[in-house]
Amino acid sequence: MSDSRSWSRREFVKTAGAAVAGSLVPADPLRASAAPARRRYAIIGTGDRGTSMWGAALVQRYSDILDVVGLADINPKRAAVGREFVGVTCPTFTSFDEMCDKAKPDLLMVTTVDGFHAEYIVKALDRGIDVLTEKPMVIDEKQCQAVLDAEKRNNRKIIVTFNYRYAPKHQLIKETLLSGEIGRVVSVDFSWYLDVSHGADYFRRWHRLKSRGGSLWVHKATHHFDLINWWLGADPVEVTARAGLEVYGKNGKVRHTNCRPCPHKAACAFHYDMTQNERRMKLYASCEDADAYYRDGCVFREDVDIYDTMSALVRYSNGTTMNYSLNAFMPFEGYRLAFNGEKGRLEIRDFERQPWQVETPTEIALTRSFGQRRMIPVPKVEGGHGGGDDRLRDLIFRQIQVPDYMKLPDSRAGAMSCLTGIAARTSVEQQRTVRIADLVRL
Ligand SMILES: NC(=O)c1ccc[n+]([C@@H]2O[C@H](COP(=O)([O-])OP(=O)(O)OC[C@H]3O[C@@H](n4cnc5c(N)ncnc54)[C@H](O)[C@@H]3O)[C@@H](O)[C@H]2O)c1
Repeated sequence: MSDSRSWSRREFVKTAGAAVAGSLVPADPLRASAAPARRRYAIIGTGDRGTSMWGAALVQRYSDILDVVGLADINPKRAAVGREFVGVTCPTFTSFDEMCDKAKPDLLMVTTVDGFHAEYIVKALDRGIDVLTEKPMVIDEKQCQAVLDAEKRNNRKIIVTFNYRYAPKHQLIKETLLSGEIGRVVSVDFSWYLDVSHGADYFRRWHRLKSRGGSLWVHKATHHFDLINWWLGADPVEVTARAGLEVYGKNGKVRHTNCRPCPHKAACAFHYDMTQNERRMKLYASCEDADAYYRDGCVFREDVDIYDTMSALVRYSNGTTMNYSLNAFMPFEGYRLAFNGEKGRLEIRDFERQPWQVETPTEIALTRSFGQRRMIPVPKVEGGHGGGDDRLRDLIFRQIQVPDYMKLPDSRAGAMSCLTGIAARTSVEQQRTVRIADLVRL
């Protein structure tokens, strides 16, 4: 079991110079304030993320401070399977309001389909319930305004669970930038590659519809835009973007509703045999008669209205510009990132999955202008999302002191990352540059 001993000050500031270390602050403003010692915890959305990362894993690690008092999902069958997966005996609900009235939670985790996060965040805040939400916090600017207004109105705090920040490799990048070795960052080159397995998966499910996930500009890129905002310590100011749907959706020659009954399965490179996955068969296939949610949906369905190839130019409040691209049909998974500084360049190549052997999963190189190139060693860490999942949970549920730059992400971070993607999507649709300040009042 993880505990606060694994979070030594040395671990947090290990690569940092004196200028970076600074003083330590509580990671979680909720726990530092008048939050009760034991939390009455509820989950809305009992799909994969809700039952694993924010379900069973919490019951296993934090039962000394957490009681799971209610689970809710629009699909009653999945709520029941979810309860079994989480390993609790609390009641399940299909109505959020009924869950709040009867189970009386004081802490809510929001893990529904993205398009419904805002509705539940606002309702919970208005009931005086603290909120943890999965990314993206919202999928459009109206939802963003509603969430920010509800937080102010109720004088409460939202935590947006940006686990990517807590992968040690990403902390190392933050600390290298803070050390000032490459000087002021003038521009950033950032290319994220989703492969024909993980990338395709977004086209199988609800993510394929803008109304559900806001497109990959929001659903997926919110992670990347949050990292950049945090690494640069700056806000996005304006976005110009272009995008297309080049491989999935209507581009397919043949299609079916989903893979299991598909007559084209022998010939389709994207065929996915879900029957080999016992967990998914229980959580999705055994519940699909209640809502027609096919976890193995066809990637070539004609209703796909999101993009699989995306490019954006983003300008930041500190004068930095970023060239960003996201492609969802690559033969490998990972990213390539570079910070072009006045005194040098920091380059990162992250290998997540590829059809060849790599020596090290993440290469970080720093080259000083008129100087030398050196490789920065990256700590090897086990666990989901580069080790970020475990570290994030410990920060939320244990009393941990961290440097200011490792504090838990708040609603402003949730808003700024989503707004970059919302601006990019709007830029594509309206063929114009979109200013963030025109989208919401912060
Ligand atoms: N941070 C990460 O790395 C990460 C990874 C995976 C997923 N996520 C996020 O977690 C959330 C859940 O993703 P998932 O992969 O578990 O999806 P999922 O499809 O497995 O689960 C979503 C659940 O929401 C339920 N639902 C849909 N509409 C609802 C509504 N109106 N009210 C209540 N419940 C509703 C569905 O029935 C389903 O059980 C998403 O917001 C996703 O972006 C984050």
